[in-house]
Amino acid sequence: MSKIDLDLKKCSKCGLCIKDCPAGVMATGSGGFPEIPESRKPFCIRCGHCEAVCPTSALTLQFRPAEKTGEEPKASALPPAQLEAFLRYRRSIRNYKSDTVPRDELDAVFGALKHSPTGGNSQGIKWLVVNGKEEVRKFTGIAVDWMKFIKENDPEAKLKFSADNFIKAHEKGEDLFCRNAPHLAINYYSALNGSGATDAIIAMTQFELLLSSRGIGSCWGGFFIMAIKSWKPLQTALELPEDFNAGYAMMFGYPSFPYHSVPRRKMVQVRYFPER
Ligand SMILES: Cc1cc2nc3c(=O)[nH]c(=O)nc-3n(C[C@H](O)[C@H](O)[C@H](O)COP(=O)(O)O)c2cc1C
Repeated sequence: MSKIDLDLKKCSKCGLCIKDCPAGVMATGSGGFPEIPESRKPFCIRCGHCEAVCPTSALTLQFRPAEKTGEEPKASALPPAQLEAFLRYRRSIRNYKSDTVPRDELDAVFGALKHSPTGGNSQGIKWLVVNGKEEVRKFTGIAVDWMKFIKENDPEAKLKFSADNFIKAHEKGEDLFCRNAPHLAINYYSALNGSGATDAIIAMTQFELLLSSRGIGSCWGGFFIMAIKSWKPLQTALELPEDFNAGYAMMFGYPSFPYHSVPRRKMVQVRYFPER
C-alpha cells in the first residue's frame, strides 16, 4: 500500500502532485497539504509522478526512496536536432562482429530500460538474453527445424516459399533468422497482463535505441518471433514459462561496418484535425 512522506517545511501546497496523479489518488488533506486518503491507497499505481513533479522535492513515496537521485540531467537538455539525428542514423544491423557486449554495458541498458512505460505502471516485462554466437545458433537451428516442418507438412503456409532459403542458408553456416549475431534478446509477459503485448514492443523499441546510443547494433527478429510463437520445441528450449507470452525478439552486437548516410524514406502521412 502506498504512503507518501511529506516534508511540511518544503511543501508549497502548489497542488501539482494532486493534478498530475494519473490514478487520481492524491487529494488535499488537512492544512491544505497533499495526502493519499486511506480509501484510495489501494489504487495508487506507484508511478512516482507525484514525487517527480514536485518542484520543491517535498514529497517522497515510501517505496524504494533510495532510487530518487535528483542529480540526473533534465530530459529537455537533449536538443531536438541531436535526438532527431540519432533516430535518423539508427539502422537495422545484419552484419555483426563475433565479440559479445560486456556485461556492464548490458546492465546499464537494462538499468535505463526500467523507465520504459507500461500500462498501469505494471512493470511486468521480463527478458532473456542469449550470449554468444554459438548459443544463438543453437536456437536458430531449432527455428530452422520449424522451417523444415513447414516445407514438409504445411503446403498452405505463407512462409513455404522462404523455407528453402532459411534451410539452405543454415546448412552453409549462414543465419537468416538472427544473422549470426552474438546476442539475441527476447522479452515476454504474463498472459494475464492486459497491456503486456504493447508494453513489450515499447520496451523493445527503447532497448534498440539504448543499444544504438552505445554503438551496439541490432535488428528486430521478425522471423524468429514467428518461430517462437509457432514452434513449441523453440519455446521449450528457451525455457519460456507456460503462462507467459513472447513479446518480441531482437538480435544485437557490434556492427561489422558503419553507415555513412541516411537512406531516403517516404514522408509520414499525417492528418491534422482541424487543419491549421
Ligand atoms: C517488426 C519488425 C520485424 C522485422 N523483422 C526483421 C527480420 O526478421 N529480419 C531482418 O533482417 N530485418 C527485420 N526487420 C528490419 C526491417 O527490415 C527494417 O527496419 C527496415 O528495412 C528499415 O530499415 P532500418 O531499420 O535500417 O531503417 C524488422 C523490423 C521490424 C520493425
